[in-house]
Amino acid sequence: PSSSVGSLGAAEARLALALFSRIKRESIVVYDLSATIDHCPTVIEENSPIVLRYKTPYFKASARIVMPPVPRSETWVVGWIQACTQMEFYNVYGDIGMSSWELPHLRDGLVRAISDSDGVSYPWYGNTTETVTIVGPTSKPSRFIVSMNDNFYPSVTWAVPVSESNTPLLTNIKRDQSFTTWLVALNTTTKEKILLHTIKWRMRVDIVVDPCLPLGSRSRLVGRVHQDQPRVLSRMEAIPPNAMGRPNANDAQVLMWRPRRGHPLVVIPPK
Ligand SMILES: *[C@@H]1O[C@H](CO)[C@@H](O)[C@H](O)[C@H]1NC(C)=O
Ligand SMILES: *[C@@H]1O[C@H](CO)[C@@H](O)[C@H](O)[C@H]1NC(C)=O
Repeated sequence: PSSSVGSLGAAEARLALALFSRIKRESIVVYDLSATIDHCPTVIEENSPIVLRYKTPYFKASARIVMPPVPRSETWVVGWIQACTQMEFYNVYGDIGMSSWELPHLRDGLVRAISDSDGVSYPWYGNTTETVTIVGPTSKPSRFIVSMNDNFYPSVTWAVPVSESNTPLLTNIKRDQSFTTWLVALNTTTKEKILLHTIKWRMRVDIVVDPCLPLGSRSRLVGRVHQDQPRVLSRMEAIPPNAMGRPNANDAQVLMWRPRRGHPLVVIPPK
């Protein structure tokens, strides 16, 4: 369509102007920003006698970037940074109690977000399709796509995790987790960050289980079938420090056993 040709022309003009100046927000062009959650329900798998598994739809984000020429001795990385900002993840075993995955610092309000990096590519979500590195000097604009995706595919024991018994007692699973995802250009020497976009998304899962029924017929999805679509914010949101470094959510999370009566127990401590 002619409108996209028009905006490309304007972008090229801005890039030409930016050729010999400092890289700034205005000179980095983002086309075709897309942030979606697949329009399919969470799928429950009941083929293991030990655990129930569920697979949520994918959150997917991608953008086409045109980066202006990068001066000699500058290196820029453009890509996705993601943090978890809220987590409820309960597995209820009738009136005995529940197991719960928790991020203690987030739960107690000590931090506003926890990095969701893969654990090696900090601060980035990953280092394959998620980032592109531009080492200066480059004489022409660089064009590339950065993309990421995320979903949940956990296992939940049919039996109470702190007991020796194998008796299935699981009755409910409830998960509600929120994330903020940033598209960022980072000057690797000065660590200066240029925020290009901020996205918020949420994944919710509600499953009811009748543990008395035979394996394969115990559980069903309740509540919403489809997830709310991600929101691309019109204003940028700053990246909190804990969204940038260790520990990531995988290493920080603990599995608690919270009995109906008595004291909570740490089943799996943080790494
Ligand atoms: C990027 O880093 C270089 C040093 O490698 C510095 O001279 C330059 O001012 C920085 N540019 C921006 C826009 O941060
Ligand atoms: C990603 O990071 C790992 C661990 O640091 C490294 O071994 C691998 O080569 C990196 N991959 C890419 C594509 O940069």
